[in-house]
Amino acid sequence: MEGRGEIEIGSFGIEDYEAALELWKRTPGMGLSSADERGPLGAFLERNPRLSFAARSGGLLVGTVLCGTDGRRGFLYHLAVDPEFRRRGLGSELAAASLAALKARGIDKCHLFVLAGNGAGAAFWAKAGWTLREDILTFSKNT
Ligand SMILES: CC(C)(COP(=O)(O)OP(=O)(O)OC[C@H]1O[C@@H](n2cnc3c(N)ncnc32)[C@H](O)[C@@H]1OP(=O)(O)O)[C@@H](O)C(=O)NCCC(=O)NCCS
Repeated sequence: MEGRGEIEIGSFGIEDYEAALELWKRTPGMGLSSADERGPLGAFLERNPRLSFAARSGGLLVGTVLCGTDGRRGFLYHLAVDPEFRRRGLGSELAAASLAALKARGIDKCHLFVLAGNGAGAAFWAKAGWTLREDILTFSKNT
């Protein structure tokens, strides 16, 4: 895409962990938890190979998307683009890469969570053609 320099989209691996965590920590709208520690994230990547992607500029990580599947539906997490690189299509490209990888695995639907206060994040997904589900409530419980 024009005007964004040499940016490559490639697979996200555990070697990206430190740079990704640094990006997520300085990204408002990103909900982080103990599931984002290196161990659980590595397990997630092992269970879901080739579904998560990173954007790199000059070798430095500038965007991420995590994607997993339970074998039935897909789930996206942690779509984040470094503020300096936003509004150049990178967020769209990262999300599309994960969706295409899900489709190639025969997974035909994907869900994601957006924190209630993240209006810009919600606007991004709506613009990208995702449907806001007002018919579902999310419940969570510690095991
Ligand atoms: C959301 C985010 C990933 C978008 O990344 P991006 O690379 O800027 O996205 P794109 O350039 O592909 O944007 C595509 C379209 O989405 C819409 N969009 C993107 N950012 C938007 C914003 N802040 N407000 C409203 N609409 C937005 C626009 O219509 C945009 O097209 P345009 O630039 O031609 O107007 C990035 O802003 C970000 O990292 N935000 C913080 C983390 C977050 O909220 N993640 C998503 C929720 S989980």
